[in-house]
Amino acid sequence: MSDSFLAIDFGTSNSLVGAVHQGKTLGALPLDPKSADPTMMRTLLYFPHPDLCYYGAEAIEQYIEQDMEGRLFRSFKSHLPNQNYLGTVIENRIVTLENMVGIFLLELKKRAENHLNHEVKKAVIGRPARYSMDPVADGFALHRMEKAAKMAGFTEVQFVPEPLAAAFDYRKQITQEKIVLIGDFGGGTSDFTLIRLRPENFTHDDVLAIDGCPLAGDALDSVFMSHRLNEYFGAKSRYRLPMSSNVLSMPPAVSMKLNHPAHIVHLKEKDTFEFIREVQKCSLTSKDKEAIERLFVLMEDQQIFPFFESIEKTKRGLSASAETVFSFDYPSLEIEETFTAAQFIDWAAQTKEKIFEALDRCMESAGVAAEQVDLVCLTGGTAKVPFIGGELEKRFGKEKLQTQSHFHSVLSGLVESANFWSQGQKVT
Ligand SMILES: Nc1ncnc2c1ncn2[C@@H]1O[C@H](COP(=O)(O)OP(=O)(O)OP(=O)(O)O)[C@@H](O)[C@H]1O
Ligand SMILES: [Mg+2]
Repeated sequence: MSDSFLAIDFGTSNSLVGAVHQGKTLGALPLDPKSADPTMMRTLLYFPHPDLCYYGAEAIEQYIEQDMEGRLFRSFKSHLPNQNYLGTVIENRIVTLENMVGIFLLELKKRAENHLNHEVKKAVIGRPARYSMDPVADGFALHRMEKAAKMAGFTEVQFVPEPLAAAFDYRKQITQEKIVLIGDFGGGTSDFTLIRLRPENFTHDDVLAIDGCPLAGDALDSVFMSHRLNEYFGAKSRYRLPMSSNVLSMPPAVSMKLNHPAHIVHLKEKDTFEFIREVQKCSLTSKDKEAIERLFVLMEDQQIFPFFESIEKTKRGLSASAETVFSFDYPSLEIEETFTAAQFIDWAAQTKEKIFEALDRCMESAGVAAEQVDLVCLTGGTAKVPFIGGELEKRFGKEKLQTQSHFHSVLSGLVESANFWSQGQKVT
């Protein structure tokens, strides 16, 4: 019998799995029955205690049911390139980042195997164009992924750049040779590929350039914190240490963590937590103190996850209307703010600039000018943000933009790569 392969789009926010099995290619498998779209599993881990873990939609369900006791992890893919982030401690048990990714991949593998009724040892796994702008950190991230895949029980793994995989999917619509730009705007990374696409065949020379940057949907969520909401949690609180006349404000290392959905949970680490306690004790005014108290409520009453879910909902609202009300209703954390799309554009300007610098690099290294690009295809959840599409429209012209959404493109391309592999060819 022919070998079986899994294709895994392990995303910062959502993960999808397809397969090549008994000579057939299978698109996104329905692995999360509790999710609104069962083919898409949220990349979440919830440990009520160190010996039990829930995944995807059930992680949220159980987190709420169990009064938010224990630990919930999201966006952990973003930590892969961070050499200072080794992992976490759950009730005195060390859980490395490789463990976290490994058990998530293992769960995807088990669910897929259940579906196929067959054990699978080989996988094609997507990887962003760049986990990090630093090549050393990028290599480190890939090495961690290799370890995690091994832990999950895969004996052979191929990593395929996510934007390249998306290109394979778009090839299906092409009837003649075209130069195509693929932009994949996800939760953690924004990735670009410039590729010469033909209806048949593919050679490595067809990939003109791949580039990207580790900023996407999560970074856009964080601007609501950094520009407005973090004041509620002491980011601007001032304090004065005993025996000193210097008035200090919350250090950027703390507020940067506070602002970001992937990093805020690290404020709970012992040293940082105690430092914030000290700052609170030395607060200059009662208002400064109250704000830090709210931060403790956010952390100790396990409100971080729901708070960032509300921010994300607000951001999505701004993709469809000019104004959205952010509202959070938890005792002593009652916050209501109206945000406008214009504000969002303004606050996100720097992030957008960095994202499109990656596109500039991609165009430059391919030696391709905007006029030479025949088609621009967008994928990923963040492609729904109007100013992302708007920028591409400005650069390439509306007529070249493929607006039809293909949110399973990366996965389809990974399945196709797995299919190549099953026929003895390798994509990378
Ligand atoms: N309507 C919308 N408007 C704005 N952003 C959206 C919308 N829908 C989804 N998103 C954002 O898309 C992101 C998730 O997209 P996607 O599932 O493509 O990411 P991912 O594949 O998990 O991440 P990555 O590829 O970066 O590892 C989230 O940040 C989410 O907030
Ligand atoms: Mg993705």
